[in-house]
Amino acid sequence: MNKRSLLLLCSLFLLTKLPAQEKKLFNETPEQKEKRLSWWVNDRFGMFIHWGLYALPARHEWVKNRERLTDADYQQYFDNFNPDLYNPKEWARMAKAAGMKYAVITSKHHEGFCLFDSRYTDYKATKTAYGKDIIKEWVDAFRAEGLKVGFYYSLIDWHHPDYTIDRVHPQRPNDTAAYNQLNQGRDMARYREYLFNQVKEILTMYGKIDILWTDFSFPGNHGKDHNDWNSVELIKMIRKLQPDIIINDRLDLGEYEDGGDFVTPEQYKVSEWPTRNGRKVHWETCQTFSGSWGYYRDETSWKDTKQLLGLLIESVSKGGNLLLNVGPTARGTFDVRAQQALKAMGEWMLLNSRSIYGCTQAPAEYAKPDNCLLTYNPTTKRLYVHLLDYPLQNFTLPGYKGKIKYAQFLHDASEIKMSEPQMHHSMGKNQGEQDINLSLPVKKPDVEIPVIELILN
Ligand code: GLC
Repeated sequence: MNKRSLLLLCSLFLLTKLPAQEKKLFNETPEQKEKRLSWWVNDRFGMFIHWGLYALPARHEWVKNRERLTDADYQQYFDNFNPDLYNPKEWARMAKAAGMKYAVITSKHHEGFCLFDSRYTDYKATKTAYGKDIIKEWVDAFRAEGLKVGFYYSLIDWHHPDYTIDRVHPQRPNDTAAYNQLNQGRDMARYREYLFNQVKEILTMYGKIDILWTDFSFPGNHGKDHNDWNSVELIKMIRKLQPDIIINDRLDLGEYEDGGDFVTPEQYKVSEWPTRNGRKVHWETCQTFSGSWGYYRDETSWKDTKQLLGLLIESVSKGGNLLLNVGPTARGTFDVRAQQALKAMGEWMLLNSRSIYGCTQAPAEYAKPDNCLLTYNPTTKRLYVHLLDYPLQNFTLPGYKGKIKYAQFLHDASEIKMSEPQMHHSMGKNQGEQDINLSLPVKKPDVEIPVIELILN
C-alpha cells in the first residue's frame, strides 16, 4: 500500500471514530449559550452556602446518613432550630467584600429540611421557632449587594416518606435483600411530584434566579438516576420557568450535550481544562474551607489563605470558576474562621481581582514560568503572572521576547523593569535569547500572592 492510500484509510478510520451528532434537548445555538453564561464566565468567583438542621449537630451535613439517624432521632434539630442571629445582609456584605459575585444557597439539602416556605411540606423553616422564610430574606439581601443568586436543591430527600431507601439513605439496610421490603409503601412517583412542585416553587416564588444547582444522581445498584427524577422533563420545566438560568450537571443527563451548562469537579483540582468530545466545557469547582459543607465545629483541617487563593487563581488559569463554601452556624452566623478566611481573600481581591474577573487560560504561546499560574484577559489583552513562590531578583519569562510592552505589579501599579536575560558565564551563548528578564524587588511585596501584570504588544 502506498503512503497516500494509507493516509486515506487512516482518515476514514478516524472519521468513523468521531462522535455522531450529539443528542440535544433544546435548540439553543452555541452562541446563545455563550451569551447566557457570559456573566458567570466573567465573574469567576461565587459563594456556596450550606445551611440546614445539620448546623445543630455541627458534625457534617451527612450526619443523618453517617450515624444512620431516624427521623425521630433527627427531630430534636428541627425542634431547636432558631437562628436568632441570622442576618443575611451581613453575609452578603462578607461575600461581596471577599470578591465573590454570585452565591448559591441550599434551599433544601439531603436531610429534606426546606429553608424556603414550601406549600408541600411542614418540614421547613417557617414551621420552626424561627418562623420566617430564610430564602426570601436571603435573596433580598444578596440581590441588594448586587450579587447574583442561585439555589442548590437536593434531589435526594432523607425525610420524605415516599423517597425510596437507597444505598446512601440513612435507613439503608446492611443486607441488600432487605431493600424491597423496606420500600414497601414508598412511591417514587409521588416523590417526583413533590420534587417537581418544589423546584417550581423555588423558581417562581423569588423572582429571577440566576443558577440552579441540583444535587445529585448516583446511578447503579440501589442508586438513583435521571429516571428517578424524570430529569428530562424536569430540566424542560426549569428552562421554561427561568429561561436564562444556568444549571449544573448533576441531573444525570450526560447523554445530552445540553443536559447541564457546566461540570462540577468537587473538592479536587482539575489537572487541565475539562473537555467533552475534545471540546473545552464550562466548569466550576466547588470547594470547602475545611472538609465538610455544613458547619462542623471540631474540624481543624482549614485551608490557609494562600491555598484558597491558589484554588481561585488555578481555576481561572484553566478556564473555570470557584464556588467556595461557607457553612453557617445554627445561630445564623459565619464562624470566626470563615470570616477570617473571607476577609483575607478580600484583601487580596481588592488589589488583584483584575487578574480574575474576565480572565481565562492564557494562550499557549505564553509559557508558564516555574511556580507560577498564568491568567489572561482576552478583552484587554493583558497577561497575569501569579508568583506562588516569590522568586529571586532576576525572574525569567521564557520565550517572551518581543511580546511585552510594559510590566508592572498589579497591587500597586509599580513598574517592573525589563531587560534582556543576563547570561550566566556557564550558559551557552544562544541560550535564553528569546527570554525576557524582569528585575523584581528582593523583598516580597506585602501581598499573599504577588501578581505581575504584563501589557502585551
Ligand atoms: C456532595 C454532597 C453534599 C454537598 C455537595 C456539594 O454531593 O452530597 O453534601 O452538598 O457535594 O457539591
